[in-house]
Amino acid sequence: MRSSRGKSRRPLPENMVDKKQTREVLLMLLPYLLEFKGRMFAAFTLLVLAKVAVVTMPWVLKVVVDGLDRAQHQIIVVPLLFIVFYGLLRFGSVFFSEARDAVFSRITERAMRRIVLRVFEHLHALDLEFHLSRQTGGISRDVERGGNGFGFLMRMLVFNIVPTLIEMSLVAAILLFNFGAWYALITILSVGVYIYFTVTITEWRNRFVREVNQLDSKTNTRAVDSLLNYETVKYFNNEAYEALQYDQNLAGWESARLKNRMTLMALNSGQALIIATGMMLMMWLAAEDVASGVMTIGSLVMINAYVLQLFMPLNFLGMVYREVRRALTDIENMFSLLKREPTIKDKPGAGELQVSQGKIEFRNVCFSYQPERPIIQNLSFTVEPGQKLAIVGASGAGKSTLARLLFRFYDPDSGDILIDDQPICSVTQLSVRKVIGVVPQDTVLFNDTIRHNVIYGRPDAEPEEINKVIEMARLKRFIEGLPEGDQTEVGERGLKVSGGEKQRISIARVMLKNPPILLFDEATSALDSESEQAIVGALNELAEDHTSLVIAHRLSTVVDADHIIVLQDGKIAEQGNHQQLLAQDGSYARMWNLQQSDD
Ligand SMILES: Nc1ncnc2c1ncn2[C@@H]1O[C@H](COP(=O)(O)OP(=O)(O)OP(=O)(O)O)[C@@H](O)[C@H]1O
Ligand SMILES: [Mg+2]
Repeated sequence: MRSSRGKSRRPLPENMVDKKQTREVLLMLLPYLLEFKGRMFAAFTLLVLAKVAVVTMPWVLKVVVDGLDRAQHQIIVVPLLFIVFYGLLRFGSVFFSEARDAVFSRITERAMRRIVLRVFEHLHALDLEFHLSRQTGGISRDVERGGNGFGFLMRMLVFNIVPTLIEMSLVAAILLFNFGAWYALITILSVGVYIYFTVTITEWRNRFVREVNQLDSKTNTRAVDSLLNYETVKYFNNEAYEALQYDQNLAGWESARLKNRMTLMALNSGQALIIATGMMLMMWLAAEDVASGVMTIGSLVMINAYVLQLFMPLNFLGMVYREVRRALTDIENMFSLLKREPTIKDKPGAGELQVSQGKIEFRNVCFSYQPERPIIQNLSFTVEPGQKLAIVGASGAGKSTLARLLFRFYDPDSGDILIDDQPICSVTQLSVRKVIGVVPQDTVLFNDTIRHNVIYGRPDAEPEEINKVIEMARLKRFIEGLPEGDQTEVGERGLKVSGGEKQRISIARVMLKNPPILLFDEATSALDSESEQAIVGALNELAEDHTSLVIAHRLSTVVDADHIIVLQDGKIAEQGNHQQLLAQDGSYARMWNLQQSDD
């Protein structure tokens, strides 16, 4: 479990999405496709209608041609009805396709919405450690690309790959029943060879495409860098040298482009050769049949039309294949996020934490972020209900770590943390977090208004309550001085308000949440002494009937605590109340004297 920490999974290179993963991804798509069974059925019906129209067209053409054939009829009748029918079919084939797209779009859009939401929820369910090691930009790109790939793949499956297969089977069946096995065989064979050829060559070509892209950006970087260094080039009279270097890069680019172009030629001409061979064989067969009188000229026209029609969608195959591969990679990346298990999980059947008094107990707690480096070592203490416990100690001693353990961002390696005698690891995380209010060491605000950030403490609070906590947290004067009042935007991460203002917003929202247990991690560190005194007064008022845990550097803010723990390297070095600790004349007394002389 430990070893998985901090390792974020890299996106797979394109060629590493293997068959098993492809199957997995396709299986994952299935439930989303089946969610709207009615729509799926309608889309499928429209798809079949469109294909039937497409497939009927050559047959109508045959009837028209045969109608005009002098060899078969003494008098030529213009088959007007069939010509109209032909027009209708042509329109129908387009119309049904469009209708199918419209009907299906609901399914894709809904599936994308669901999957993206699922990833979002999952990201919130993952542990703090994951979020401390992630790269937010990379993840949001993974999610976005995965969502798009998901939609693309569904559309491709239903609109392109499946229809082409259906059309192929229909045409093969028509040829088989009307003209015999040879025609069907040639069709299937040439399509098979065509697909195989395209996939293989595209796979091989990828290398050259990538090479061109790489050289493209390299040449560009070089040119821009050279121009940015305009002055330096002049100082050293190196224009010719620069040009030479640039030209060397360009030469590589030129040959890569040429190779790319040649491979494209190989692909396109190979495809054309396969089509031409298939058609030639068919025509040959058909011509012989016409000559021997088994077949009409119309049938020959029809076969020609079928084969042409069949290969048209196949022309896009190379492109579709490449894009599908890319979509699969993107989806796989997104799903790898989903597959990540949170390290902190509720036990199966975990109940709710029942809080009556708010007693906190740490019992022989050991904890380390990395196994080699113990942070908390066999720590035990109890905070009686309604009491105020202060934790002081040097930077890096593990104070904030204690707070994170209590909030269950991490589980201890051994030992227990209990609230009202219930181990917090055996109840739901939600119920634990509900009863603890945290003012963290570094407050980060949402990029929204001040009021929104305060209300976040309890979104259904009444306006009077909100105004009250704004006053209690000494925010009122600050807000009144702002041109836009509490509707002022705080900027990304709250960077447009001062550190002290941020802390007061953070305090206000905890006051609004008002849970039985309070946890202040350097909650007033960014404030000047005067505001600090005022806020500490308000916090004490709030903490009166609450159990509170206060982490502080400035000892003057904790002199009134019921109990003070001096933490040193994850162990309790000294403890007692302020008077007792002064009397011990240990490190607490030293810190106190230092800070007193500073003031
Ligand atoms: N996510 C993490 N992964 C690895 N090590 C960590 C992590 N978070 C904290 N640490 C380390 O654990 C130790 C204790 O950190 P902690 O934040 O608890 O210190 P602190 O007592 O709150 O210090 P300060 O007074 O500076 O806030 C530090 O040495 C820190 O480098
Ligand atoms: Mg800290």
